[in-house]
Amino acid sequence: MHLSFDTRPAVQIDTPVLVSYVFEKENRIEGALAAIDQATGGRLRRLAESGELTGKSLETTLVHDLPGLAAARLLLVGAGKPEKFDGAILRRVVGMSLRWLRAKSVTRMTFLLREGERNAGGSEAAVEGLLLGSFDSDFYKTEKKNGKAMERVSLAGAEGASVEEIEDGMEKGRIIGEAQNFTRALVNEPSNVLTPRILAERAEAMARECGLEVDILDEKRIAELKMGALLSVAQGSVEPPRVIVITYTPPQVKPGASVLGLVGKAVTFDTGGISIKPSEGMDKMKYDMAGGAAMLGTMKALSSLKPGVKVIAVVPATENMPGGKAQKPGDVQFAMSGKSIEVLNTDAEGRLILADGVTYAKKLGCTHLVDAATLTGAIVVALSNVSAGIFTNNQEFEDRVLASARRAGEKMWPMPLDDEYRDMIKSTIADIQNISSGRGGGASIGAAFIREFTDDTPWVHLDIAGTAWLDDQKPWSAKGPTGVGVRTLVDLAISMS
Ligand code: BES
Ligand code: MN
Ligand code: ZN
Repeated sequence: MHLSFDTRPAVQIDTPVLVSYVFEKENRIEGALAAIDQATGGRLRRLAESGELTGKSLETTLVHDLPGLAAARLLLVGAGKPEKFDGAILRRVVGMSLRWLRAKSVTRMTFLLREGERNAGGSEAAVEGLLLGSFDSDFYKTEKKNGKAMERVSLAGAEGASVEEIEDGMEKGRIIGEAQNFTRALVNEPSNVLTPRILAERAEAMARECGLEVDILDEKRIAELKMGALLSVAQGSVEPPRVIVITYTPPQVKPGASVLGLVGKAVTFDTGGISIKPSEGMDKMKYDMAGGAAMLGTMKALSSLKPGVKVIAVVPATENMPGGKAQKPGDVQFAMSGKSIEVLNTDAEGRLILADGVTYAKKLGCTHLVDAATLTGAIVVALSNVSAGIFTNNQEFEDRVLASARRAGEKMWPMPLDDEYRDMIKSTIADIQNISSGRGGGASIGAAFIREFTDDTPWVHLDIAGTAWLDDQKPWSAKGPTGVGVRTLVDLAISMS
């Protein structure tokens, strides 16, 4: 998709479709729309008066052959109430426009930003919306049905901001949107294609292309490092595990500066192991590497955005299979940290691999840790697919991540991590056990287990089991992987510069 910025006034832009949006309010033909209305002899006002153009969220109105307008057609998308309008809604409006027009075989469009968005932030969100909207999950269809790809998109609506600011915003949006789609493409791959070894190969190729330092730990080095928790999960599979380590170093590093560690769960398929899952819906467990993929996408974006903070991604990758060599309930394992773990349920495997991931990230010098994982079904019970759950051992650091999430338009909801949860994972035979001996609170129990390996390093855990996958398509997005986490973590790295 070719992206550009058009500095001409809206009425002069000759494009197959000029797109803009309308607010749900009394005086909705205002600003740029008023100019179009005037040039077209009051057509928009008449549409509004007829009740056809209300501005209600996601309403679409397509008008052909407007006299006085250089564009062949005008598409107006409802943006809802102006008080609620923000980057997240702009992203949706733009993504929806692209998908709607693409279905009608339109390959070129110009999107007109409105008064409030004549700034870098608006152009960034708009380009993100375009890229996110252009993603489809139909990788292996031999006949694509989603219409022709959108070839050229221009943004317009320059007044009030410099062209340079807008183009900088567009470039940032392109980098972040492409990174999110990189993550989504990995998550979309079936587990027969994307084994831990192939995930590592793809990560390595991306890192080399982006000029990032990369180290892939194979099963031999994983064993030398005594990552017993990761190995215990991997031992049930014929596919060997990998740990992907990617490092971004800023142009200048001050001594004693913070180092951000991004630890992502990458279980390329989770059968549950010997504590096997029911067959219904098990196919979805190919997405159990979404946390790891989010960290890889984040690193890809950071290689271009170049924040002033060192960032290290640590992604333990494995299958969770019930093989003849698989671990069994009651087995005791030693994590890299030296802690002993009684594995009471082999399906609580994410916390096991993250335990070693967190330990290794600390060993590499990370001073702050964020992990992202499709960790528990319990977070889906608590928050549905609306928000990711966020947990911490350090309130100040959680507040920083939440501020980034808010700026990025990714919903996250703080979940509790009281000391009582620690008591529920005390084992009779070992230091800790991987499931609770009490009832309920599954998402907090999972987080409490990982906390045991963080010591006093500020740490935030994101449970993205409910938000990494969209079960039904939306007007602005294909069904399937969402790429959640990338935008927040990119913002976090920039804010830590
Ligand atoms: N990958 C799953 C989490 C999951 C479950 C995501 C359902 C989406 C939907 C994780 O490894 C898992 O199996 N968790 C168990 C933990 C339990 C055994 C304590 C769960 O949530 O059921
Ligand atoms: Mn599991
Ligand atoms: Zn899992």
